Amino acid sequence: MSTKNGDRAYDLEPNSKRHKGIHQSEFEINDNVPKEKTSNVTSKKEDVKQNGVHHEDTVKRNQFGDVVSDPNISLEGWINVWKKGRTKFHRREVHSILTNFLPKLVEGKENPTFFVPLCGKSVDMKWLLDNGYEVYGCEIAEDGILQFFEEQEISYVIEPLEGKVEGKIYKGKDLPIVIFMCDFFKLPSVSSVRFDCVWDRGSFAAINTKDRSRYYDVLKKMMKPDGRWLLDSFELDHVKFAGPPFNLDTTELKQLVDDDFSIEQVRYKDAMNDWSRTWDVSYFIVKDFLLTRKEKTMEK
Ligand SMILES: C[S@@+](CC[C@H](N)C(=O)[O-])C[C@H]1O[C@@H](n2cnc3c(N)ncnc32)[C@H](O)[C@@H]1O
Repeated sequence: MSTKNGDRAYDLEPNSKRHKGIHQSEFEINDNVPKEKTSNVTSKKEDVKQNGVHHEDTVKRNQFGDVVSDPNISLEGWINVWKKGRTKFHRREVHSILTNFLPKLVEGKENPTFFVPLCGKSVDMKWLLDNGYEVYGCEIAEDGILQFFEEQEISYVIEPLEGKVEGKIYKGKDLPIVIFMCDFFKLPSVSSVRFDCVWDRGSFAAINTKDRSRYYDVLKKMMKPDGRWLLDSFELDHVKFAGPPFNLDTTELKQLVDDDFSIEQVRYKDAMNDWSRTWDVSYFIVKDFLLTRKEKTMEK
């Protein structure tokens, strides 16, 4: 498919193997994505002197420039991210993909409930509340939850979690917001609430890649049978950058959800910015998808 402003094919061609079976929205396909973005990205050996030790290996670093031998982040690791204030991923503005695609996300649904997995202190939750929706979040770091309620000036009560799962429930006093402070993977055993819509920004992208199919299983379980999932994801190389965020291949996404959801790619955009440039990635693409439960699988 060529874009309106030129003859670039990018990755949006209907015939592209990588995107077969995925409906492309016209939204923002004019974005100026460099054609050569994925070319010649090959692993490179480095010879780095660090702390007096010579490493002859591929050295990977995280967002903060720390050398990382294992890109996986534990729950304690995330709690520390918040303790150290390393939360540059937090956006002060409401995400444009959410505002643009809200009508599609809620189409045909009566009083839809929203779930924001791995929510941090996302201002999108407040925006959803302001738009009259009931909002649920899940976040392991209490600092993030406290900052959300304080910064948004929402008074709250704290309740214990049922069962044996470690954590708490933060509930808005006057607004319909509930944030489960617990491990996302334990959520099905602490709550029977099922959601109409999922807004997934920096969540699937942050989860350790080895846990992706577990994440998907939990998310599917927490959604109503006709649920919709708006997913903000990234394409980037991990030659020198450990992540998160982690690269998501459209093929991988399709393999993961194909039986249950239809996928519409609603944005594909070169998102390289001053911050991602410091990660030493050679490309950084943002890809957004609207996933809708396939009718035949709704009762599953
Ligand atoms: C990259 S941040 C994104 C936060 C938020 N979605 C946003 O857009 O600002 C990922 C968040 O997931 C939380 N987190 C990571 N693993 C988790 C888990 N297993 N259960 C609950 N929260 C988790 C982290 O504490 C962190 O706040």
